[in-house]
Amino acid sequence: MTQAKLAFEVPEIARLDGKSSTLVLLLSRDVPEIAYFGERIPADVSADDIVSLGQRDAVPGALDSSEALTLLPETGTGFSAHSGVIAHRDGKTFISQLRLQRVEESPHCLTLHLSEQLSEYDVSIEISLHADSDVFEWNTSIRNTGTSRLTIDWLCSVSLALPSSFEYIGMFDGRWANEFQFRVQQLTTGSLRKENRLGRTAHNSFPAIVAGKDWPRWSRGTAIAVKLGWSGNHRLLIDRSRDGRPFVQMGELLHPRELELDRGESYTAPAAYVCHSSGGLNGLMQQFHRFVRQSLLRKNWRSVQRPVHFNTWEACYFDQSEEKVLDLVARAAKLGAERFVLDDGWFRGRNDARAGLGDWQPCPIKYPRGLEPVIDAVESEGMQVGLWIEPEMANADSDLARDHPEWLLGEPGRLQPTGRNQYALNLADPSVFEYLVSTIGQLIERYRLRYIKWDMNRDLTHAAIDSRPGYHQTTFAAYELLRTIADRYPETEIEICASGGARADYGALRFGSRIWPSDVQDPHTRQLLQRSFSLFFPPEVMGAHVGSKRDEITGREQTMAFRTASALLGHFGVEAHPAGLSDPEQVTLQRAIAFYKEHRGWIHDAETYFLDHSETCIVARLVVMASQQRALLVVAQIDDCSFAVPAPLRLAGLNPSWRYRLSHVSAEDYVVISSHDTHGAVLQTLGMQIPLMQPDSASLFLLDAIGK
Ligand code: GLA
Repeated sequence: MTQAKLAFEVPEIARLDGKSSTLVLLLSRDVPEIAYFGERIPADVSADDIVSLGQRDAVPGALDSSEALTLLPETGTGFSAHSGVIAHRDGKTFISQLRLQRVEESPHCLTLHLSEQLSEYDVSIEISLHADSDVFEWNTSIRNTGTSRLTIDWLCSVSLALPSSFEYIGMFDGRWANEFQFRVQQLTTGSLRKENRLGRTAHNSFPAIVAGKDWPRWSRGTAIAVKLGWSGNHRLLIDRSRDGRPFVQMGELLHPRELELDRGESYTAPAAYVCHSSGGLNGLMQQFHRFVRQSLLRKNWRSVQRPVHFNTWEACYFDQSEEKVLDLVARAAKLGAERFVLDDGWFRGRNDARAGLGDWQPCPIKYPRGLEPVIDAVESEGMQVGLWIEPEMANADSDLARDHPEWLLGEPGRLQPTGRNQYALNLADPSVFEYLVSTIGQLIERYRLRYIKWDMNRDLTHAAIDSRPGYHQTTFAAYELLRTIADRYPETEIEICASGGARADYGALRFGSRIWPSDVQDPHTRQLLQRSFSLFFPPEVMGAHVGSKRDEITGREQTMAFRTASALLGHFGVEAHPAGLSDPEQVTLQRAIAFYKEHRGWIHDAETYFLDHSETCIVARLVVMASQQRALLVVAQIDDCSFAVPAPLRLAGLNPSWRYRLSHVSAEDYVVISSHDTHGAVLQTLGMQIPLMQPDSASLFLLDAIGK
């Protein structure tokens, strides 16, 4: 940071330049506003060049000055839509008119210090540019400088004016086993608001927005994405100011009087991540992938080889025993698994989802000799040990809940409605927190765990702490718990899971290494789900497993070829019971695993592209090695095509001056069926003909550069 500057010295504009985007702030308003956010502009563009053409008239019939759509728009300055900050003292002094006091500038960070002198609070907005990815991170804080208690009803993490030319908004819907449904709608009139009050990120409200000038496409178009890094309640809002300018606002949704600051106390809203692309959704996706890889993931989980998982959940559900699991260990190793994960069902009283959560000792009936024989077997097969836990919860039928009813979240005398028969614990209670830290630590040490599948299977309904709303505190305490374990046991990977993808977000991923996007394995559902998930998360972070032939959730039957091809471009794993596989299925799976092992090194560092195709049932995902020497294309067809022969598919990301060997790899046995030499430019302009496929099948193609 450079020296702080006084108010009268502030420059008229301040800018942050990434590799391909520029953000320019106009500082001459009381609260700075975005003068420009978009494609990178030349360094010699002056304040005048930007500001002079953007002068707006006042709205006739309204206030005398033009409407200020600032970084924190306020009702108190005449902003006609949702204020960016709503704070008061017991209902009084609710008006705000913040004033910029000083600006701290460095090449990659701008911090704006604002003050509300009558209502007595300070606000700071820090915008930092992650230079490797061109993702701009917003951190907004408020501090009570008065003597009485300040109640915060709303402090948005980010309020972003969108270009007036933007006409489309994409948000995410979803449900259990079908998360990340990307829905695009036209931005017309009225506000669009999505609120999540479930106390976790939620299946149905992934906290992100994509806005575009045109209907979002993967390979072209101008688009902006805003993503919240928070695993609790949130509000996403899109609206227009009265003079017609669209904007996005998002932040933590707070319950009445949930957040009260005493003198000197401060609150920082969840971080928000913003990026711009002139290359369609692919551009946004690639920036977010770089951001996750270079900035978000803990250093020890960047660029590590992701071992093939075998997870016991679908193979045996709760029906575990030492004998059954030892048999699975041997079978998993034979398939080529490198990490064996003992999922739910291993602990005391856990014969179904009605009991046991909270009692984290091995079930003496299923494991009379403890878990040690299983752990030893896993390790002697050369695999790592992984274990499922759901530490934030307890079943009523558990010793933990019987011994410590006061540890349950909520008000005394009032029970939470159950979710999956369980209650949430009050993590903000130091005794609960300490108990969990030591219990998880003992499991990690005793069983030499290299991986924890950290689950969270219910919504928070009664997050009352001392009878006051405590969703914020609970979310924060969950982060502290994750952070404590991640710091103390840096060798142990944490997977973020919440009934599948209900806690998939950048807030939680700061402490984990991968996310379980969904409980559904059926590749038909997974193809679209994984595509939207991938907008924000790179392949190595996306758990993708091969399930049983007949998917338990959807009831569909899928070939092993389609199942493996759909998991290949994620962090690969197996959930199907190996004993239930036919010999040919077994061979396909073994070969797919070998193929994954051969290629994961570069795929997990590669650039991802989804390719637009006129047949919407075609989901084509291409990963291109950083050097452009190699690429892998997986073309999935999830429904009937409209035309007898699908149009050619245009590739992307290759070197247009190089020739490539295009090899069609069979998804049945992962060997090359045919090869063809062609030019990178042709593949990207004319495209390649894809073979005729059946619905719910996939074709694989490897591309290797063979010189100019
Ligand atoms: C959640 C997870 C599943 C599995 C079960 C176990 O639903 O998402 O993958 O671990 O819990 O109960």
